Amino acid sequence: ARKIIIDTDPGQDDAVAILLALASPQELEVLGITAVAGNVPLALTAKNARIICELAGKPDVKVFAGCDAPLTRKLVTAEHVHGKTGLDGPQLPAPQMPLQEQHAVDFIIDTLRAEDAGAVTLCALGPLTNIATALQRAPDIAPKIAEIVLMGGAYFEVGNITPTAEFNIYVDPEAAAVVFKSGAPLTVMPLDVTHKALTNAARVQSFRDMGTEPGRMVAEWTDFFERFDKEKYGSEGAPLHDPCVIAWLLQPGLFSGRKINVEIETESALTLGMTVADWWGVTDRAANALFIGDVDADGFFALLTERIGRL
Ligand code: BDR
Ligand code: CA
Repeated sequence: ARKIIIDTDPGQDDAVAILLALASPQELEVLGITAVAGNVPLALTAKNARIICELAGKPDVKVFAGCDAPLTRKLVTAEHVHGKTGLDGPQLPAPQMPLQEQHAVDFIIDTLRAEDAGAVTLCALGPLTNIATALQRAPDIAPKIAEIVLMGGAYFEVGNITPTAEFNIYVDPEAAAVVFKSGAPLTVMPLDVTHKALTNAARVQSFRDMGTEPGRMVAEWTDFFERFDKEKYGSEGAPLHDPCVIAWLLQPGLFSGRKINVEIETESALTLGMTVADWWGVTDRAANALFIGDVDADGFFALLTERIGRL
């Protein structure tokens, strides 16, 4: 199985991504889950990560708390999308499993140093603060990373937190710039693809029909989470942004994209956090990311329901 660390700020869509990974032990070994501040403050994301592990019946997964604020900026949160707890929708019990004592950044550094080069993949589902801090503190880990697969950015779909920026990149653009300049292989799931991974009534019903606790929770989370996108974008359902990252590891054939140059805007007040993606190759800047543009949505939901149904 491929060894992964999931860096996350749950978030209903993060929760579905974590369930998908934990339901796929043949392909993915989750070495740890590192929480970061993002959708809601760190204390809540670290708590939510543990709620999700327990829901999946995996209380032995190691969960670490990381950075509570972006590298240089004040934290911007997204309760307007995810609710006050970050996991609004169903009522879930407080977690019993412990939070690890080690800081998430130290866990990321130590794990990459201990494992062979190319053995560990980082899955980033929130602002990139933990990963950038690890890269800044321990530059020797960059060449050891197999791949960083991240949900973030947007190009043709422009922004969801400002007119030109996607939330994860906007919250910590300096961290995103560190990651995009790190030289580590990058696969990026921008809004261009995640806005195609939309729930609809039939897809949500298939989660409900599982008759399991995880199935019911996924249905209730997406019921809550779809309100924002229905109002703002007039879309049919909820975009399952973060599960695209895990689905890429399980079934890359569902996705297509281009290897291009992507730079992060960190200075302009107007376009802060924009992913400036050279989709048409109009510069000679070297490609640094596989930027995904399309997904087979039916195949994606077939994978998701088959796996969540195993829990
Ligand atoms: C991203 O921001 C968060 O609200 C979601 O969890 C996802 O990671 C989408 O822009
Ligand atoms: Ca997220």
